[in-house]
Amino acid sequence: MSSFDTLAKNWDKNARRVAVAKSVADHIKKCAGENLKIMDFGCGTGLLSYNLTDIAQKIVGIDNSPKMVEEFNKKSPNLQKIKAYASLKDIDERFDLIVSSMTFHHIPDIPKLVAKLSRYIIPEGMICVADLHKEDGSFHDRGNEGVYHFGFDVDWLVEIFSEQGFELVCEETPFVIQKQKAYPLFLLCFKKRS
Ligand SMILES: C[S@@+](CC[C@H](N)C(=O)[O-])C[C@H]1O[C@@H](n2cnc3c(N)ncnc32)[C@H](O)[C@@H]1O
Repeated sequence: MSSFDTLAKNWDKNARRVAVAKSVADHIKKCAGENLKIMDFGCGTGLLSYNLTDIAQKIVGIDNSPKMVEEFNKKSPNLQKIKAYASLKDIDERFDLIVSSMTFHHIPDIPKLVAKLSRYIIPEGMICVADLHKEDGSFHDRGNEGVYHFGFDVDWLVEIFSEQGFELVCEETPFVIQKQKAYPLFLLCFKKRS
């Protein structure tokens, strides 16, 4: 069982996580269109996904924690419209928009992930990623197991996406998480060149 499995049941009780997801969704809506097919990579219990239903025709969540997937799907009023899966291998379609919030720092090989995600996006589609700016490793109160990046250098991410044919169309600071110090988040939205 992954540590995210053990956290799934009480994930939404953390008011800060709820507020981050709402703010990231509000900022994504400034850049994205409407009536979209959306994938949420590292969807967790769906805090971000369920804030995007008003711009979605369909939402597919992906999370490798089965318990997160279970919590996500419990909330769905219509599994045809919004449903989570445990693996990208279950998905055989392309999306107008891929979103991901606070997940990239848990992924060891970011260039590999971006190459993989780019295969699921239509030409001119968008990928929006929210995560921490570079930090000193003090962000995670429970320790850094499963944390592969202490935040990101935004210019490095822009380079990785550019290598996969994406251009940066929007950069925002959707939230600043206040703990013992401030941890600002970035939101980067990339458009796939046709
Ligand atoms: C910090 S949580 C963020 C969850 C959600 N996006 C939110 O904002 O509430 C990171 C999520 O990424 C998932 N995750 C980590 N590695 C993953 C991988 N390789 N593939 C899919 N999901 C992954 C975890 O299970 C967890 O639910």
